[in-house]
Amino acid sequence: MGSEKLPRNVIITGLQWGDEGKGKVVDLLARKSQHVVRFQGGNNAGHTLVVAGQQSILHVVPSGILHPGTTCVVGNGVVVDPEVLCQELRALEAKGVDLSGDRLIISEQAHVILPYHRTLDDCRETALGGKKIGTTKKGIGPTYEDKVARRGVRVGDLLDEDALRNRLLAVLPEKNRILTEWYGDAAHTVEELLAWARPLAERLRPHVRDTVAWLHRANRAGDRILFEGAQGTFLDVDHGTYPFVTSSNTVAGQACAGTGVGPTDIHAIVGIAKAYTTRVGAGPFPTELDDDLGARIREIGHEYGATTGRPRRCGWFDAALVRHAVQLNGTTHVALTKLDVLSGLESLLIAHAYDGLDSVPSGAEALAAVRPVYEEVPGWTEDITGCRSYDELPAACRAYVERIETLIGVPVGLVSVGPGRDEVIPRSPLFADD
Ligand code: IMP
Repeated sequence: MGSEKLPRNVIITGLQWGDEGKGKVVDLLARKSQHVVRFQGGNNAGHTLVVAGQQSILHVVPSGILHPGTTCVVGNGVVVDPEVLCQELRALEAKGVDLSGDRLIISEQAHVILPYHRTLDDCRETALGGKKIGTTKKGIGPTYEDKVARRGVRVGDLLDEDALRNRLLAVLPEKNRILTEWYGDAAHTVEELLAWARPLAERLRPHVRDTVAWLHRANRAGDRILFEGAQGTFLDVDHGTYPFVTSSNTVAGQACAGTGVGPTDIHAIVGIAKAYTTRVGAGPFPTELDDDLGARIREIGHEYGATTGRPRRCGWFDAALVRHAVQLNGTTHVALTKLDVLSGLESLLIAHAYDGLDSVPSGAEALAAVRPVYEEVPGWTEDITGCRSYDELPAACRAYVERIETLIGVPVGLVSVGPGRDEVIPRSPLFADD
């Protein structure tokens, strides 16, 4: 694996439409990190972790929480639903996870998802009818809208009842008019929202910090910081398949804005790609398999959303798309996940380009119109979940990995061959056990 110097501060992002298996790679790299930081999104994300045989699905708390030596940081770029976060804390404590001291810290600058944000998300989706985005209805979009429109409530406000009352007095009249007159829903009162916020604020208070100062101190001390992206590159509000996107920037550049750590303090950018492609919700998907094969991949790969339980759409690996994602993120290392799901297929298709185009068009309509150009490669029949070294993989499987590597222009440093923590094959020192 060579003598590559191990990068210290590492960003992990998804190179497709989310659900690439980032949680598992975060878990692997968290063992070598002192801090695991989320920088965007909210509880629209979901990662499944297994603690002592018990399954936990985390939506807000960074995946590093199961590694006792790490501090988990919810950065300023995240939107926090305090109700969901408190539920998650309770569930973790019930499983014996220590959350005391500095195990979990939350930025006072992060924006708060309020009950009316969830209602608005739901009302807007319903109003779109057949044209809906297919959001998770967790209030993510309306909360980011308010952040940008400068009418949001931040975690710091949640802890200060006077500040919260003043914020609500300023923003609630407009919200109530939209809710009642436009959507025919119920209005909220300031007192009702204050009563909702009070116990949540008290539960979260011990965790709220100036996370920017915390991360700067950690960085100066030479600690290792892992930045955990949520969703995927093509759900990015700028670079994704707009308007079928989430409401935050999901590319690696956001790790800096969403935490306050500068770009020159980032040392590696790991991109996670599934060995095939999936997408949840509406929007274009050039290599989609809307047939029995797509259904077979969905069943074998358990492709159902961790947050909403919705079936994921499945399709062939799209190298044109991932190559574009590599550039958008500045990816230095790639982890290729769920390779085992493809075992047993006689041959596989890889989209290596879009007919007549030398770049990936942005926007939903343009991407819906592309014609993928496929190449066919041999499949393999062997079960590969027991393989622990690259050489043990069948030749056709290695050829598939190497073809992807050539097409996307970045080495595949890790291959994942099963759901378990240890069902991985490291090919780069970054992913190897110490
Ligand atoms: P929102 O983020 O709830 O506003 O949903 C916008 C789009 O992003 C929808 O298509 C969702 O299915 C998708 N989405 C949001 N979070 C995730 C995720 O963590 N994985 C995959 N898709 C997601």
